[in-house]
Amino acid sequence: MADQPKPLRIGLAGLGNVGAGVYKNLLKNRSLLQERTGRAMEIRKVAVRNPSKPRTVAVPDELLTANLDDLIEDGEIDIIVELIGGIDQAFTLVKSALERKKIVVTGNKALLAEHGKELFALAEKQKTPIYFEAAVAGGIPIIKTVQESLVGNRIDSMIGIINGTSNYILTRMAEEGLDYPEALKEAQDLGYAEADPALDVNGWDAAHKAIILASLSYGFWLRAEDIYVEGIQDVSLVDILFADSLGYTIKLLAVIRLDESGGIEVRVQPSLISNGHILASVNGVFNAILVNGDVVGETLFYGSGAGQDPTSSSVISDLADAAARLGDCGGRRTGFVPHGLYGQPVAIDDTVSEYYLRLQVADNPGVLAQIATVLGNLDIGISSMIQPEEHEEGIAPIVLMLHYATFGRMKEALRQIADLDCVRAQPVLMRVESL
Ligand code: HSE
Repeated sequence: MADQPKPLRIGLAGLGNVGAGVYKNLLKNRSLLQERTGRAMEIRKVAVRNPSKPRTVAVPDELLTANLDDLIEDGEIDIIVELIGGIDQAFTLVKSALERKKIVVTGNKALLAEHGKELFALAEKQKTPIYFEAAVAGGIPIIKTVQESLVGNRIDSMIGIINGTSNYILTRMAEEGLDYPEALKEAQDLGYAEADPALDVNGWDAAHKAIILASLSYGFWLRAEDIYVEGIQDVSLVDILFADSLGYTIKLLAVIRLDESGGIEVRVQPSLISNGHILASVNGVFNAILVNGDVVGETLFYGSGAGQDPTSSSVISDLADAAARLGDCGGRRTGFVPHGLYGQPVAIDDTVSEYYLRLQVADNPGVLAQIATVLGNLDIGISSMIQPEEHEEGIAPIVLMLHYATFGRMKEALRQIADLDCVRAQPVLMRVESL
């Protein structure tokens, strides 16, 4: 048997909400990741402030340390995952990691917005990357999208809802009439808010992300003082209701826009958007970013913008990039990786959904009973029925909404119904997808 590549050895700094998610999900999808990346991922050490604190994930005591330097000084560790948050300590940790040529994975948007210029210069000098998919929009892969998929575009604009906490608060205020502190407390309990939730509500968390997106798009680090930031602290329920009565929804929007003279507008503000616009339907912890590229046109990226699992999904994607970067992955970066974890395709007849069925039938007594009998014999329930009063002489349309059934049973019902003498046109069947 060919030699297995060495495991990717990870030093995890921080075991808060996201750190615990990374630990948990690396274990959960361990074999899937190994098949896809060609390497096992092994957490060698976990640095926490207080090793004896009870945790939501069971980390063996021998992995825990209270000293960040233990991660840096461990010559076996290839990658430092920085999830301690804050700026000063994280800055020192990331710099020390790069100086030792350890790859860095971070979700720290404040750190990158403040010190990106210096850190990426060091990364370049050390030929050691910093990956930061988790720093913007939680589980949405917007960083790799901008850096890779849209690399052939000049970015004309990005308009985004990029703070999950404030979007959650605005949604709860609008939908349930909650007051602001109650909604914020919920967002904190759900693990969406920053350690300092002021950053979420004063707009600066979104601003840090906007700085990263704009800097990636335009190729130089924008400074915090170059952008305008307002938060949602002063948005009241009264404004939300007035806006709604005028056909608008209030969202905390980050706007990044390139003008014809090369000026770059970057701002974060609560803004009214028309209820008909797709961004108005982005609710709760969801984020969405509309990206306009000069080649691709308009694209939209949507997903959970905060929370343990979505954000750890992004961190893990960076670990996979690091695995590829460190080599030993054979042909695994050639576009398709065969692996066998997901079983086999399901036959269409075995797939299940609800259905919409429209029939044209003879307008006679007993017709409905014949149709109901066919459906009943095949154990297909009717959830509702409409028969418009006005119809063509002698022919009646019937629309039936049907409960869950396999497509195979539904096709058989359709065949039997189409054979009934009372049915006067080809039945129309559509699936109802509950999304
Ligand atoms: N506090 C952040 C938010 C977490 O609510 O969006 C994800 O960056």
